Amino acid sequence: MSAKLNVNIDHVATIREARKTIEPSIITAAVICEQAGADGITVHIRGDRRHIQDRDIELLRDVVTTYLNVEMAATEEMLKIAMDTKPDAISLVPESPDEITTEGGLDVVKNISVVRAMVKRLRDAGIFVSAFVDPINEQIETCQSIGVQQVELCTSEYADLTLGAKAAHGEGTMKAAQEVKRIHDAAVHAHGLGLKVAAGHGLTYRNIGALAGISEITEFNIGHNIISRAVFTGLYRAVEEMIDRIRLGASV
Ligand code: PXP
Repeated sequence: MSAKLNVNIDHVATIREARKTIEPSIITAAVICEQAGADGITVHIRGDRRHIQDRDIELLRDVVTTYLNVEMAATEEMLKIAMDTKPDAISLVPESPDEITTEGGLDVVKNISVVRAMVKRLRDAGIFVSAFVDPINEQIETCQSIGVQQVELCTSEYADLTLGAKAAHGEGTMKAAQEVKRIHDAAVHAHGLGLKVAAGHGLTYRNIGALAGISEITEFNIGHNIISRAVFTGLYRAVEEMIDRIRLGASV
């Protein structure tokens, strides 16, 4: 059976927030993703609210019929949002205010007491808990020891090696293959410990194939590349529609 796909729709909200207006609607985006066959919707509510807003989570909770996975930092502020909205899953991620995107996995080993307390409160509320970690055994084992139910393996190092110039050189291809092996071994280890295994970050139409073959990975969270492609698959029609309106207006 192939892995599930949760579509991360943060960047629909990024466009909306660029104008602080109501479009594009992330609710419409979520519905279209579900209609297209996505198994779930993922959003990341950040401390700085650069894309997803509190109200988005409330609305998505009402509208998403598949699976709502909310990524958040392990803070009291975020815990309250989780408790108030009860998504199907919470994915704990690291966060620093100046980063462009999530930079690597959460250091569960270093932050064990904070993460353990958050995991307990989420699980007591009946929420499934995932943690975004680098493919490192110590991180995975620590997750398992504190009650995390799923690890999402960070694929950004692999993804970086498949981009542009790095991918074009033999050394890059070899390193990418090594990184696939590291992710594979981590997935097998996590699965062996009884954890569910997800993967994500930086995945694209071009680099997903090598990871899709790892049977222990049962879920992918993919955003930027899908939303980027959607701009081009939809742009032609969007321009045609505007030309139609202009011509229609000119003819009355
Ligand atoms: N998984 C996690 C934990 C993330 O933080 C993100 C980015 O929000 C993704 C997956 C999706 O990454 P991308 O947008 O590069 O597909």
